[in-house]
Amino acid sequence: MRTSQLPGFYKVTVAERRTLMSEATGVDPSEIASALDAGGLSAETADKFVENVLGTYGLPYGVTLNVRVNGQDHVVPMVVEEPSVVAAASNAAKMVRAGGGFSAEVDAPLMISQVQLTHVKDAARAHEAILGAKEEILAKANRAVPGLVARGGGARDLEVRTLGEPSDEMIVAHIIVDCRDAMGANLINTIAEGVADRLADLAGGRVGLRILSNLCDKRCVRVRCRVPAQMLATEQMDGQAVIDGIVNASRFAELDPYRAATHNKGIMNGIDAVVIATGNDWRAVEAGAHAFAARSGRYAPLSIWRRDSDFLTGFLELPLALGTVGGTLRVHPSARLSLKMMGVTEASDLAAVAAAVGLASNLAAVRALATDGIQRGHMALHARSVALAAGALGRDVERVAAMIVEARDITIEAARRALQVLSEESREVRTDAREVPAAEA
Ligand code: MEV
Repeated sequence: MRTSQLPGFYKVTVAERRTLMSEATGVDPSEIASALDAGGLSAETADKFVENVLGTYGLPYGVTLNVRVNGQDHVVPMVVEEPSVVAAASNAAKMVRAGGGFSAEVDAPLMISQVQLTHVKDAARAHEAILGAKEEILAKANRAVPGLVARGGGARDLEVRTLGEPSDEMIVAHIIVDCRDAMGANLINTIAEGVADRLADLAGGRVGLRILSNLCDKRCVRVRCRVPAQMLATEQMDGQAVIDGIVNASRFAELDPYRAATHNKGIMNGIDAVVIATGNDWRAVEAGAHAFAARSGRYAPLSIWRRDSDFLTGFLELPLALGTVGGTLRVHPSARLSLKMMGVTEASDLAAVAAAVGLASNLAAVRALATDGIQRGHMALHARSVALAAGALGRDVERVAAMIVEARDITIEAARRALQVLSEESREVRTDAREVPAAEA
């Protein structure tokens, strides 16, 4: 039975954390080291990914703890440069856990392959002709992706939409494809190119663009959580008042696209970090999420928060095209390690966990905003980077950070002074130790 609860994890060294993670997930420590040291990617391998490579670019790789989704525990790798994102998601996941964890439902992995058809003089007749040849088109699509069909996926449906005015002479055919555990971009593009000419014949028009749609709204994930009021309390506010504050934050986002954008950014802090850690395409996920947020014609929050007696309830819905096979996963050892540590093999489980971390990140942000304000927690973590920049090493990083936060002076100068104090203290301790007679020592 996996656990995602590892108390005190944040207090130990990186090496100790790797040992704890290996014990919690069963992944060999040497595998963790080889997949993460130097970012897991040599310049030579990177050179096979993209063009004009000079090297690789490192980002912090952390793990969110306490995540429980549909009764299963997951430690969740996150790749992100922003301080506090990982800690905040872990804290919020702990609060959600007290209410039974996240529950998630994931749609079938259906992606949309778009074939644009232009110069279509009679859109109604073109619709009829294309839909009349549905079985032929789906069979042709399946012949283009035999591997996917062998894995149980393939073309499932065909839709036609008319775009603009009759004078635009433009329609678009959607081939709906079940991608199984793949993100699907290559498969979908292959299908679009495979069936386009026949669609143009049927429509009496010309082939335009042939590409997937990132608004994959048939591949959504919905996550819910229920947090007991007392878990939300802070030193200054009781849990009931925090629920009111979070519902107010939700209403603000529901009524104002300016706030909704930032609210959604807080969700994507969690989701993107998991998407990157698992080798998936975060630009595709971002494009889909924001297009979905604007689906009513007005940009809206992807999550909403409400009170249900003494509980806070959260609901998040967004399209999430993630893969656990193919693409970057084939070649990036860190991405493979992430899935292994998470204990996830199916794309639907990955989507459920990533969305849960998104809702956790959102909860942490709106709770902070509704209580102490975001800066207090941010500054505490920012203090660690300042301590590092001042030259603190090892355990001194936390000590210096705590000292400058306490002094409410989070500057390099204050961190250098704190380091000086610590080094004087340790010199005194060493001198005292030398002065203790051998018999007493
Ligand atoms: C910062 O990365 C994310 C937040 O701005 C999200 C929000 O305002 O809800 C704190």
